[in-house]
Amino acid sequence: MPQPILVRNQKYFAPNVILPPKIDLLEHYPSPENVHDPLKRPIRDLRISLIDRCNFRCRYCMPKEVFTPAYNYLASDKILSFNQIIRLCKIFIGLGVQKIRLTGGEPLLRKGIEELIDQLAKLSTQSGKALDITLTTNGSLLAKMAKSLKSAGLTRVTVSLDALDNTSFQSITDSHYPVERILEGIHQAQAEGLGPIKINMVVKRGTNEDQIIPMANYFRQRGMILRFIEFMDVGNSNGWNISQVVPSREILATLQTHWVLKPLDAHYVGETAKRWGYVNAEGNLDPLAGEVGFISSITEAFCDDCNRIRLSPDGVLYLCLFASTGYDISEWLQPNPTIGDDLISKYIAHIWQQRLDQYSKTRINALKQHPIEFFQKPKIEMSSIGG
Ligand code: GTP
Ligand code: 5AD
Ligand code: SF4
Ligand code: SF4
Repeated sequence: MPQPILVRNQKYFAPNVILPPKIDLLEHYPSPENVHDPLKRPIRDLRISLIDRCNFRCRYCMPKEVFTPAYNYLASDKILSFNQIIRLCKIFIGLGVQKIRLTGGEPLLRKGIEELIDQLAKLSTQSGKALDITLTTNGSLLAKMAKSLKSAGLTRVTVSLDALDNTSFQSITDSHYPVERILEGIHQAQAEGLGPIKINMVVKRGTNEDQIIPMANYFRQRGMILRFIEFMDVGNSNGWNISQVVPSREILATLQTHWVLKPLDAHYVGETAKRWGYVNAEGNLDPLAGEVGFISSITEAFCDDCNRIRLSPDGVLYLCLFASTGYDISEWLQPNPTIGDDLISKYIAHIWQQRLDQYSKTRINALKQHPIEFFQKPKIEMSSIGG
């Protein structure tokens, strides 16, 4: 079967993008049924980045020196409309998607996001169940928006927060935003029923290890789920180095100096986090103490069950968070569609059926051998594709 060719390299930090094949080629693709990649991984989790901008400048994600006001952000006419996104979501549900995560940049900066959520909430999975509609936010607008997000039909939220101490927080986010306001947003979200609330904390050596215990203590007392994320080499602009990674086992050992913890079963196949619960004085799991999770992409890759597909704000699909190639389907989503949903679905199934991505798994070997080409490949930036 002829392959689409590599036709353009969009901009400095962007990976290559493959334009879609000619429609008459698609006619010959088989109808998608029970779609799995060659490693037997289905598509379950669609992560939609709504905007490539953010009001923070976390040094490990959007360093100010790179993401200047002159940075080549997407023009508004290149960003998919809600109707285009909903159309794609319906196609993805037909391919097996059960969870939709809205991300960014900062997704709450996308005007009218409630309208999109409202439309998403009307969809259900292939088997007629409710979709899990969730959102990853930096929390800065949550106090203001939690109520309207809930009424629109959002199921739950995950908040990125790397420190409780205001000086650390402002240094990490390179902003003057008070951490207190993020905490208010988290509490507002909980009060509105947007739980279980998850807090994502990226731990970076020499930056915020001192926040591990205060964060665990705070969210434990409030029964929330705190997940520690190993600092990853996403994108090309965060100056990643293995020496900056704090391995999950080290974080667990730090927690164990204060509390007794016990491993919990995964909630579902392909869960990114390894879950642990707090044990109380009687030796039982404390149901009020929340839990912690470890997302260990560096030391314990979880590619084997990876069922996540990502859509950029401008309509490019990425089959891996570290992808060097994207599949641009935006031209098929323009008004006056010349191509039906069935053909788009065939194409997505086709690219998924050839997906061999296991970047984090192969990184473990690459770290031992240091092949320059492995680490120099252009990769999509986290700020354009979300987590
Ligand atoms: P739940 O639906 O609540 O289980 O969340 P999730 O773990 O699927 O999604 P979330 O966006 O909260 O993921 C947490 C973090 O894990 C992200 O911010 C990323 O840093 C990392 N992550 C998520 N998906 C992947 C992935 O496919 N590969 C790698 N390497 N890291 C991932
Ligand atoms: N490594 C690990 N996590 C990261 N995030 C952003 N950049 C990185 C990185 N280099 C996390 C954010 C947020 C989510 C979108 O991804 O903290 O929780
Ligand atoms: Fe913004 Fe999140 Fe990136 Fe920080 S990590 S700059 S909050 S998108
Ligand atoms: Fe999936 Fe790629 Fe992450 Fe592995 S590195 S879990 S294949 S997104």
